Amino acid sequence: MDRRFMSARKVEFGILALMVLISHHAIQTFGAGQVVGYWGQEGDDKTEGSLAALCASGNYGIVIIAYLSKFGRNQSPVLDLGGHCDAPTGACQRYASEIATCQKRGIRVLLSLGGEVGGYGFDTADEARLLAQDIWDNYMGGSSSNSPLGEVNLDGLDLRIFSGGHRFYADLGGRLREIAQDNQYKYLYFGVSPQCPCPDPSLGPDSAGKFMETNLVDLVFVQFYNNPGCDIRGGIDDLVRSWSNWITRITASKPAFYISLPASPSAGEGFIDTKTLKDSVVPSIKTIGNYSGVALWAPSTNRTFAASIKSIV
Ligand SMILES: *[C@@H]1O[C@H](CO)[C@@H](O)[C@H](O)[C@H]1NC(C)=O
Ligand SMILES: *[C@@H]1O[C@H](CO)[C@@H](O)[C@H](O)[C@H]1NC(C)=O
Repeated sequence: MDRRFMSARKVEFGILALMVLISHHAIQTFGAGQVVGYWGQEGDDKTEGSLAALCASGNYGIVIIAYLSKFGRNQSPVLDLGGHCDAPTGACQRYASEIATCQKRGIRVLLSLGGEVGGYGFDTADEARLLAQDIWDNYMGGSSSNSPLGEVNLDGLDLRIFSGGHRFYADLGGRLREIAQDNQYKYLYFGVSPQCPCPDPSLGPDSAGKFMETNLVDLVFVQFYNNPGCDIRGGIDDLVRSWSNWITRITASKPAFYISLPASPSAGEGFIDTKTLKDSVVPSIKTIGNYSGVALWAPSTNRTFAASIKSIV
């Protein structure tokens, strides 16, 4: 075969592969067996460690910064990184370089909205769309004179909504995706961190127009802890039943699913040790399918746990 023809075919194949990659972005990019770590709520750089250190451990494929803890209802959005830094003073801007270092390692960095403390939610779609613009300006491709994390280009959002109602998150996500596409930004990932009882009261999916009924969802980190009805404390059958439920109930998109777990017994009720994870939990949910890995809450509460599960997830 003629060489030029071959390379033309190669280019064609490359374009085809790229198209396949784009249309199956979530599954392809976040293939099987990743560890995801949440960061920002376990004290300061000494107790929790820096974001750079988390990324440098080599254990994580995605890190999720928690939280944008106040937004909507006429509030200025507030970034809360616990004891790490005080965002309003500009002290969190030093994390811009750590975030860039994480991304250079191929780690996706998402910003989580919500959290346990509350003080968020929307009354109108306009408020949600306004927040989309604010997030774009401060954390993504837009510009702002005083971004809480400095000059960063985050890879997406995670919704960890415990209170404040379920309304208008779809407007937030839809508007943000629209802005990103209009500006030819990199692919923006939308993650959700629901509790394991399905559907989640804030995020769905059910028939109420909640975020998980949209086609925006790329990543689902289901919290299998602090929920006696579906975490491991009721036995593995409860957990597996809940996993199946999530897989079958989400139909508007084909997201990657992660089992979200505490990194130690002190990080949440329903801790699963490495051996149980390896011998029973991971094999059981892998059999059901649609499994992409494990997300760890409070990785700093046992810094060797992530390494111990990396090869078995
Ligand atoms: C789960 O995987 C199956 C088989 O690959 C696929 O057909 C289905 O759409 C997936 N479901 C979700 C919710 O991603
Ligand atoms: C941390 O996790 C490792 C790996 O699972 C385990 O061997 C070790 O005992 C844990 N450390 C503590 C203090 O629980």
